[in-house]
Amino acid sequence: MERTFRIFRHNPGEDDSPRYDEFTIPVEPMWTVLDALNYIKWYKDGSLAFRRSCRHGICGSCAMTIQGHNSLACEAQLATLKKDPIEVEPLRSFPVIKDLVVDMDDFFERYRAVKPYFIAGTPPTDKERLQSPEERKLLDDCWECILCGACTSSCPSYWADKDFLGPAALLKAYRFIFDSRDEGDEERMGALDNKHGLWRCHTIFNCVEACPKSLNPTRAISQLKKKVIAEKF
Ligand code: SF4
Ligand code: F3S
Ligand code: FES
Repeated sequence: MERTFRIFRHNPGEDDSPRYDEFTIPVEPMWTVLDALNYIKWYKDGSLAFRRSCRHGICGSCAMTIQGHNSLACEAQLATLKKDPIEVEPLRSFPVIKDLVVDMDDFFERYRAVKPYFIAGTPPTDKERLQSPEERKLLDDCWECILCGACTSSCPSYWADKDFLGPAALLKAYRFIFDSRDEGDEERMGALDNKHGLWRCHTIFNCVEACPKSLNPTRAISQLKKKVIAEKF
């Protein structure tokens, strides 16, 4: 079987403007888009640039836009993409470094702004910091984030305000603020409770649709907003 791919190409240092290149290649029924990109790079055009590492939906490096939807290339089965050409583009709203590789420095800067690690005010003892099953359950559907950037790239609030923390960083903030063992709320609130933080999210839900791990940043952001309001009033 053959499939045709229409791939975004741009090398900002050298090209005047972006273009799309088409490649028709032989494919196997079980291939993913990443398998096809590998084939194109290895046998058709070695200059094609894209990120990948784990090939198992774990590392988050192969997030890109496939047929208009943010997806992981290593999880996007060709069999589910019925129409040719299959259009492959870089994640929207991040600067293109080359072809499908985007600059994620700002994305990770926003991630660091929410202090994505445990902050323990009380000194350690010789025992573990225990959680009840109910407390642990609050962290389901947020610790699994692989930082692929698909959610933030799809968020219209981020398109409009590049200083917005974005859904991935806010989901991570939820993961620690709602962890019963963490004591860093005050240190994080400066980044969250302002016009580029929680309040820039207008509950648009694109982030939920885009997340390849089926996480729900919208729900986490709503919980954070409720917590801030409850503590203020
Ligand atoms: Fe990717 Fe989902 Fe994490 Fe956003 S929340 S960075 S889409 S895994
Ligand atoms: Fe953006 Fe998601 Fe909020 S798409 S506006 S972060 S609900
Ligand atoms: Fe790691 Fe796709 S290569 S998530």
